[in-house]
Amino acid sequence: MMFSKKTLIAAATLTALIATGCAMSSSISEESLGLRKTDLYTENTTTGDKTSYSTVAAGESKVYERAFENAPPMISHDVEGMLPITMNNNSCLGCHDPMVAPSVNATSVPKSHLFDMRNETALATVSYSRYNCTQCHAPQSDNEPLVENTFQAEFRTANGNKQSNLLDNLNEGVQ
Ligand code: HEC
Ligand code: HEC
Repeated sequence: MMFSKKTLIAAATLTALIATGCAMSSSISEESLGLRKTDLYTENTTTGDKTSYSTVAAGESKVYERAFENAPPMISHDVEGMLPITMNNNSCLGCHDPMVAPSVNATSVPKSHLFDMRNETALATVSYSRYNCTQCHAPQSDNEPLVENTFQAEFRTANGNKQSNLLDNLNEGVQ
């Protein structure tokens, strides 16, 4: 196969670029590649930050602001003794079920949790697809973030950072 002069020059330039690239990357130390600053080949010297979840009892905690519109809220209180959720025992519902919530001053599960999405019908009780609360709701650990998060949520309603309304606008933009 014959190469034109132009192709050869382009190839040579490319090779030079790749070579420079390699030379540059070899000056980056492995320790600076990740968030952890310890030896990448052993776990012995590496320990993660200890998780420290809220120990404030349900009923006395202060709820977190929602991360973005209709984000599942973080669990603001201690969940000691409430997990795991099993087929016969869901203590979360013991307070967050709409029938109970007002009497214990807990936020009731929203309308979306009392709705059968597949058949598009309202349900009298919490949908089984929402039974496993901790699949979506998690407690928050008090740790220093390794990377600063500059994300700014935009809430379209004044109380969107405290309340959800997913079922009302779930089909927004869908024809
Ligand atoms: C003893 C009653 C009780 C139990 C049990 C309970 N909660 Fe709560 N929960 C509350 C109350 C009350 C609040 C409101 C904050 C407060 O007063 O502590 C709350 C707040 C929350 C919030 C924050 C709501 C918001 O608007 O930001 C979430 C999420 C939550 N709970 C999820 C759960 C899950 C999941 C479980 C089961 C693991 C659970 N809760 C078990 C009473 C309870
Ligand atoms: C499949 C994910 C998922 C599961 C499972 C789930 N949730 Fe939610 N939850 C959400 C999302 C997303 C929102 C916010 C948007 C909405 O649905 O309105 C929410 C909102 C909430 C809120 C705030 C209500 C409000 O008016 O602001 C509470 C309280 C709550 N959930 C409790 C629970 C409890 C208790 C369970 C278990 C019985 C549960 N959730 C199971 C995803 C989930």
